[in-house]
Amino acid sequence: KRLLLVNGPNLNMLGNRENDIYGDFTLADIEKSLELFLKDKGYDLDCFQSNHEGKLIDRLQEANGKYTGIIFNPAAYTHTSIALRDTIKAIDTRVIEVHISNVHNREEFRHRSLLAPVCYGQIVGLGFTGYKLAAIALIDKE
Ligand code: DQA
Repeated sequence: KRLLLVNGPNLNMLGNRENDIYGDFTLADIEKSLELFLKDKGYDLDCFQSNHEGKLIDRLQEANGKYTGIIFNPAAYTHTSIALRDTIKAIDTRVIEVHISNVHNREEFRHRSLLAPVCYGQIVGLGFTGYKLAAIALIDKE
């Protein structure tokens, strides 16, 4: 039993990037503590981060059918990527979109997600906890 965690562009800079908005945890902190959280529940976690839209698409396509679900923070591609939307629509595996910050109290261009309509669900503004909540939702559904 496995979940996949995918993080998009600039999230490799967490802990070192607009800490007032994103907190001071690093991507490695997120990956490690989510892995521990899931281990306890009998699930393994695979992690992937890329700054490249095509690489994110490749990873999601490869993941199809292999995971209980996918926890995905698409970062800025949330607001721009029709290609990622088509991928999420095309695969059978459930995807939950997660944002660390509350995109709704930020710039107008962050209010719209092109991906949320084709995701199983969306979690915003709850910091690192959002990733754990997404994991719980995917496991509960199995
Ligand atoms: C983000 C929100 C996006 O608008 C932004 O481009 C990010 C991070 C978040 O986790 O809050 O890079 O996805």
